[in-house]
Amino acid sequence: MRFSIDEGRRKLTLQDPDRELDLYSPEAFSILSRAWLKVGWDQKYVYGFSWLGRPIIQLPEDLVRIQEVIYRLKPEVIVETGVAHGGSLVLYAGLCKLMGRGRVIGIDIEIRPHNRKAIETHEMAPLITLVEGSSTSPGIVSRVRALIRPGETVLVLLDSNHTKAHVAAELEVYAPLVTPGSYIVATDGSMEFLHDVPRGKPEWAHDNPKAAAADFAARHPEFALEEPPWPFNEGRVTERITHWPGAYLLRK
Ligand SMILES: C[S@@+](CC[C@H](N)C(=O)[O-])C[C@H]1O[C@@H](n2cnc3c(N)ncnc32)[C@H](O)[C@@H]1O
Repeated sequence: MRFSIDEGRRKLTLQDPDRELDLYSPEAFSILSRAWLKVGWDQKYVYGFSWLGRPIIQLPEDLVRIQEVIYRLKPEVIVETGVAHGGSLVLYAGLCKLMGRGRVIGIDIEIRPHNRKAIETHEMAPLITLVEGSSTSPGIVSRVRALIRPGETVLVLLDSNHTKAHVAAELEVYAPLVTPGSYIVATDGSMEFLHDVPRGKPEWAHDNPKAAAADFAARHPEFALEEPPWPFNEGRVTERITHWPGAYLLRK
């Protein structure tokens, strides 16, 4: 996309085709936000945050949004593929502790010893179970299933390997765990629009979690791609500024 902004004239001018927008409009904000996400991703902006001491590789808006989803659903079990340093597990476990309900299962193909130690000695450790292995391997999926008791409410987040094929495979094996009214969240669909940034790859335009989620929704009528409601919005912005576009699959 090509555009220029003129703060003096309060205009954002789009090229090809030429169009002039009010700079202080929701549409201009959306265009600038997309550009900000792209530049920020290349600057590794999301690698600058931590939660209760553990690095968390997420955009803060995505965390604030998922926090409200967790608070509304109060799931008994939160399953996340992709642990890394454990920040997201600690965040979800902290919410469970605050709510007095729920626990977290984190799966990663490799949990480095220093990360394992930091997670296992963290104040939130009693609410976290770590499972090491590939998220789609049948043995790992069985272990996760065995950690969930019949009838428990379950939310699933997919944040491991972000190829379309891997996310598609994760969706097939983890979606059946999700309880009605809850979600399976295919994170990092932003790859779709990050394909042309310096650190991106051309194939990301089609090989990404958002594409996997869309295919899954088309094949599974018991799920729908549905944005979680915002409990509060007195602003003019109605769309998430997110690295998780088209991510929330609601189990009907
Ligand atoms: C983006 S990081 C996770 C970030 C973490 N959820 C957070 O918010 O801080 C992705 C992780 O997925 C893991 N991973 C990659 N392939 C995997 C697979 N096949 N199964 C499970 N985990 C995998 C990587 O080892 C890495 O730690």
